[in-house]
Amino acid sequence: MSVTRVELAGRSYEVRVGGGLLADVAGQCGALLRKTSVPIVTDSNVSARWQETVANSLIAAGHEPQFLVLDPGEGAKSWAVLERVVDWLLEQEVERGDHILALGGGVIGDLTGFAAAILKRGCGFVQLPTTLLAQVDSSVGGKTGINASAGKNLIGAFHQPSLVLADLDSLATLPPREMGAGYAEVIKYGILGDAEFFSWCEANGSRVMAGDADALEYAVTESVKAKARIVAEDERETTGARALLNLGHTFGHALEAQTGFSDRLLHGEAVALGMVLAARYSARKAYISEEDASRIAQAIASAGLPAECSALGLNCSGRTLADHMLHDKKMDAGALPFVLLRGIGEAFLDREVQLGDVAEFLDGELAA
Ligand SMILES: NC(=O)c1ccc[n+]([C@@H]2O[C@H](COP(=O)([O-])OP(=O)(O)OC[C@H]3O[C@@H](n4cnc5c(N)ncnc54)[C@H](O)[C@@H]3O)[C@@H](O)[C@H]2O)c1
Repeated sequence: MSVTRVELAGRSYEVRVGGGLLADVAGQCGALLRKTSVPIVTDSNVSARWQETVANSLIAAGHEPQFLVLDPGEGAKSWAVLERVVDWLLEQEVERGDHILALGGGVIGDLTGFAAAILKRGCGFVQLPTTLLAQVDSSVGGKTGINASAGKNLIGAFHQPSLVLADLDSLATLPPREMGAGYAEVIKYGILGDAEFFSWCEANGSRVMAGDADALEYAVTESVKAKARIVAEDERETTGARALLNLGHTFGHALEAQTGFSDRLLHGEAVALGMVLAARYSARKAYISEEDASRIAQAIASAGLPAECSALGLNCSGRTLADHMLHDKKMDAGALPFVLLRGIGEAFLDREVQLGDVAEFLDGELAA
């Protein structure tokens, strides 16, 4: 097991990565679980595979686990489901010093974390991420929230968990496409800030995707370390360091909007193609070489992730995609900062990008 500390004044916590953590959840949480009753929020896919494991550990330690099992999917990040979760937690008589367990992917983590943030003005929670995306990204850093009809993640709070237990065993039941979507976020850490880790991903990506235990532990641990470093530097995304995590997200957001935020393109897949586009756009601006942009596209394609717009059959213009970017939540006083590259491992924020130029670039990509 590896242990990474997220260092935040007064709110530091550990992210533990390894096998068997859910089977030992009571031991891992220790004194965080101060009452007999333990509230756990999960979804039905995760419950079918992991509820018993978690329950057995808690019962053996003398606890009474109480599960709230929600329907899976992004729809759970809504006011209606949030209300249900909060009402249920109140019924469970959760107090400020208690901890709620969030067992699931990013949807359950974001929703439960937000419920914990607002319940009695903030109570504790533990992240038990069961998707690769949640283990390497969403469970670390304290961004919690739900979606609004105007867009994704527009309602929320910064609320850090007290502990994150990333059990690699849980990934064995994850559908391969979800594994790929999470891997996009893994490779992102290499592309944005760590050329050596990117090279490791080029050589070992197929081992990660195949669930090789050593490769997974290394990939998840390195990703968590990168995220923890960035969060410690810029917890609330005010200095720009955390904004670099949005590499691929602006292009990706436009692709997700064009495909109706549907299963046609998962968020991680959109980020993967978005990173290829950010790299090619960086090459167009002569910030990086064509060779580096091709290396990035190749690494993404060889993980089975989309690396070409033309393959999506979008049937739209570059202007249409660029227009979606105007609704990006990263818009700042009329300008949209783009995360671009000066090299592999050297992302930076470019605030001078002209959307007209991006539209022209995307026309070329759509026709390629
Ligand atoms: N808070 C953050 O910093 C942050 C960062 C990135 C993404 N997010 C959010 O994360 C969400 C996406 O997270 P996700 O990709 O984990 O999606 P998800 O939570 O919807 O999980 C994906 C699917 O896998 C299933 N699943 C989860 N674990 C499983 C397992 N071990 N075995 C079998 N099935 C399993 C789920 O039921 C779901 O159907 C989005 O809402 C996104 O906005 C948040």
